[in-house]
Amino acid sequence: MSDQLYHECHEVIAQGKAILEDLQEWGFETVQPLPIESASPVVAEEIALYPAEDDETPAAPMVETPETLDALQKSLDGCSRCSLCQQRNHLVFGAGNPQARVVLVGEAPGREEDLQGYPFVGEAGQLLEKILQAMNLSRQTVYICNVIKCRPPGNRDPKPDEIAACEPFLKQQLAIIKPEIIITLGRFAAQTLLKTTAPIGRLRGQWREYEGIALMPTFHPAYLLRNPSGKRPVWEDMKLVMQRLNNQAK
Ligand code: URA
Repeated sequence: MSDQLYHECHEVIAQGKAILEDLQEWGFETVQPLPIESASPVVAEEIALYPAEDDETPAAPMVETPETLDALQKSLDGCSRCSLCQQRNHLVFGAGNPQARVVLVGEAPGREEDLQGYPFVGEAGQLLEKILQAMNLSRQTVYICNVIKCRPPGNRDPKPDEIAACEPFLKQQLAIIKPEIIITLGRFAAQTLLKTTAPIGRLRGQWREYEGIALMPTFHPAYLLRNPSGKRPVWEDMKLVMQRLNNQAK
């Protein structure tokens, strides 16, 4: 494949991916694919060259839950359970109050998070901080972590085997903190904890439950940076969270 064709394909795939993500955020569950024979002969030939990836997901390993977040974090030192370890600068475990009433769960570290070792310290993180401030919360009062602890190259979506490798540690973080409320940011966190493939546009805005803990799915702040019209529904979701926190005030 020529360099030019390669770059054109890359561009088309990136645009297609962005369109699909937007559709999914807005609640579309399926897109009817054209049969391969109806693609242009060149594209059909290209597709045929690449067999579908084997998406068999390995079963999540059973791990005993350490008693503290520090012990859990130590158990992840030098983790090589998936290939994301090869390019990471830092494993981004999570940060905040170990006794938080609210835990926010994102998708995976981006470039800044990988460089600094802390979750949501990039542009999306700045917006998240503003949302927290508006709720009378802060990074210090809540706990913030991600489904995936190492950065997927180029910020691509996490793969099923990477989620399966990392998910037990998210579950253990939640088991140790025992928050009153979990806020999931974006589709990966909601779908992982709720064990559903429903789109985030349909999941958000209603109370769900994870292991007896109230869970509110909402849009990811990175999505809001691309689609500011999503800020209003997120604020509606966060008002429900504030109501619940106030009703259960300690
Ligand atoms: N996006 C995420 O989902 N998590 C981060 O930590 C940063 C950006």
